[in-house]
Amino acid sequence: MRIEPFSWICLPCEISLPSWKQEATIDRLSSLEVSSKKSVISESFHQFLDEYETEIFPFYEKHEKTFDNIRVHSRMHVARALIFCEVMARYYTVMGIEVNFPLLRRAIGLHDAGRQGNGEDIWEKDSAKILASHLRKKGVGYFTANKQANIIVKDGTDKKYPIEYFLAQSGDCLDIMRLPMGPGPKNGFREELLTFMNHEGCASKGLLRKQLIEEVWRFVQETEKRKFAPEFSKSKGFMQNLFQIIDRGNYPLLSTILSKKEFDFSFKMVFPSTPLTTWLVEKIPTRRLRWIAWFFLLPFQIFERFCRNCLSIILD
Ligand SMILES: [Fe+2]
Repeated sequence: MRIEPFSWICLPCEISLPSWKQEATIDRLSSLEVSSKKSVISESFHQFLDEYETEIFPFYEKHEKTFDNIRVHSRMHVARALIFCEVMARYYTVMGIEVNFPLLRRAIGLHDAGRQGNGEDIWEKDSAKILASHLRKKGVGYFTANKQANIIVKDGTDKKYPIEYFLAQSGDCLDIMRLPMGPGPKNGFREELLTFMNHEGCASKGLLRKQLIEEVWRFVQETEKRKFAPEFSKSKGFMQNLFQIIDRGNYPLLSTILSKKEFDFSFKMVFPSTPLTTWLVEKIPTRRLRWIAWFFLLPFQIFERFCRNCLSIILD
């Protein structure tokens, strides 16, 4: 899929005026200085979490009680995807690219709300209807809401997608790592499908993209293990519990969302080195061959992990 240049795909600031203070400020992001922008984005994100837990999570609680008792398209999925989108959108903001944050947050939150089953998403239009209705409830005009909600629908036509579409797709694409789709690295996640920073003019920012993928991989693994834990059984406080995991772990990039006042990308990047066996499997193009290679390399993988653990204990 060809990515349109940003100058084409940035949505005009056409969201109708919301009645409350938080959104009125964030709606005027484009007119603010970068430092003010950062504080409005940070503050509004934490204010938005209440809407997420009380108005968006109920759709996924229903999924978890009906077709999704294994929690694939669950609160954990959209919560993580929101965090990933937020980090990416903030990075674009620092680069001078305008992002409609209220729309992005609600779009990623409701992108799977209309599902009636796991597997291939044939309910995108139902989710878009839910998103449109939610936007209208928040003060967005009827036609604008319908148009904006359309960003979560991939209809195969040649429509011009806004930046929020690519961000929502990227957030969803990153969280595919939760699904055991193959023995390759990161459960078969295909890096080339991630549109974030993967377009003309962004090649030099590959390091940040790499770091994001590595952090997401560790975060997904850690949180998937805990998704049935008591702290994630209730919607209230769900996001704060996720933030505690980010805060306790080594997630410099994901940590940019924790502050309610500002955010900063000037941290030192840390790259966990990829195990040799994982690196080898990653080079294999097809899923079947990856399975075969993974099977034969398993003893080496165990041995390598053992050596790495010993080495890290010695170095500590
Ligand atoms: Fe999804």
